[in-house]
Amino acid sequence: MPFPTDFLWGAALAANQCEGAWNEGGKGPSVADHLTAGSRTQPRRFVEDLDLDDYFPSHTGVDFYHRFEEDIALFGQIGLKCLRLSIAWSRIFPNGDDAQPNEEGLAFYDRVFTLCRENNITPLVTLSHFEMPYHLVTAYNGFADRRVIDLFVRYAETCFTRYRGLVTHWLTFNEINFGTLSAGRLIGLGLRSAAQADYFFGTGDETEQYQALHHVFLASAKAVIAGHRIDSANQIGCMIANGLSYPLTPQPEDVLATQQRTDWFNHFCGDVHVRGAYPSFAKAKLAKMGVTLDLASEDEATLLAGKVDFYSFSYYSSSCLAAEAGETSEANLLAGQKNPYLETSAWGWQIDPIGLRVTLNRLYQRYQVPLLVVENGLGAVDELKNGVVDDLYRIDYLRVHIKAMHDAIVEDGVDLMGYTMWTALDLISAGTGEMAKRYGLIYVDRDDSGHGSLARTPKASAAWYSDVIATNGASA
Ligand code: BG6
Repeated sequence: MPFPTDFLWGAALAANQCEGAWNEGGKGPSVADHLTAGSRTQPRRFVEDLDLDDYFPSHTGVDFYHRFEEDIALFGQIGLKCLRLSIAWSRIFPNGDDAQPNEEGLAFYDRVFTLCRENNITPLVTLSHFEMPYHLVTAYNGFADRRVIDLFVRYAETCFTRYRGLVTHWLTFNEINFGTLSAGRLIGLGLRSAAQADYFFGTGDETEQYQALHHVFLASAKAVIAGHRIDSANQIGCMIANGLSYPLTPQPEDVLATQQRTDWFNHFCGDVHVRGAYPSFAKAKLAKMGVTLDLASEDEATLLAGKVDFYSFSYYSSSCLAAEAGETSEANLLAGQKNPYLETSAWGWQIDPIGLRVTLNRLYQRYQVPLLVVENGLGAVDELKNGVVDDLYRIDYLRVHIKAMHDAIVEDGVDLMGYTMWTALDLISAGTGEMAKRYGLIYVDRDDSGHGSLARTPKASAAWYSDVIATNGASA
């Protein structure tokens, strides 16, 4: 399988899902630290008062904060060429608006990135992965307040400056569309109203929501501009949750509904990041909603100057769409109607490797910038038996998605930089807060109540992926 020789074979993590140590080393609480555990049927809850007896899985995560040396050594043994991970914003600026960054937090990531380099692993760093300092929610109403743009940019500049030479691959906002358009008004925008409602699907004032999103776009663009200024070697990308939808039937109404949802959910944020301007359909839809944005005179120029260098995305599943509601599939907010041709995961996510090839083609044809798949994997119940996790189902999942990437590169001419599967090691599920929903190459002994030794055991998929990397995809 001829993948490009410099293809970034890797795996991914996110700070709030793996680090733990939520109040150690000077770290302040983030929005993620206020979320309880949930399950497939029981949504996570937002809790304001952290003294309650609830269990908050991010507080301990899988203890990456204390075990990163062991973990990165294991990643090195697997042969990962790239590790995608995020910096917890509130480890660097505990309140988000502190006068000075927290040296202990900065030093922690010095050690993490240095160790990656020593293991020949390229760090790919997400600046914001659903981890806004909670103080910015209570004191500013998150990104609804224009001042938070500069607070984010100061944080980004601090990271670009401190890790100059160690990190050259960056992402600004994880799944910006997921975290802002519908489900994530707390995790993506930090809106107070979202904290008070059901954090996941709570609705609120649309003008506030899209004004906050506008500020996130500006924060990303300004970070890109700063990152290029601080180190011309920096490559900075966006990160979009890909929600691939097929029309349920050839009925034109279904086709139109699918196109409209794709434009809104997938292309709106991507277009602003890659093309540096709001697409016409978004302007029209906002106007139809009665949303008038408060725009500063320089905003247009900022968005244009802050275009990203590459486009990264997560891809897990696809669904069908019809103009009329029908039986739905799951998969966070990417849910649509069931596709009779696809199998589902134990959490109801439809598995569609060909959809990844379709997505890669559509994105490359639309944007003509290098692409990077930064999340793709199978959430499954794994069992450790006699010291072994035989996760053949995960190998099957990864194999067919790798084949889809191969075909997109070789047969369709797509420029794909790399693949960081989700995840390098088991961690807390973002959607459900469970440990039971495991994605990792490495098993972590931890259960849904926070019990377990936290011991690490590489799974069968780790050995398999190690061969895939060593053969540059040929053995997949
Ligand atoms: C993406 C997020 O939405 O999907 C990750 O960027 C998340 O943080 C991943 O973990 C898988 O979703 P879940 O809900 O199964 O953890």
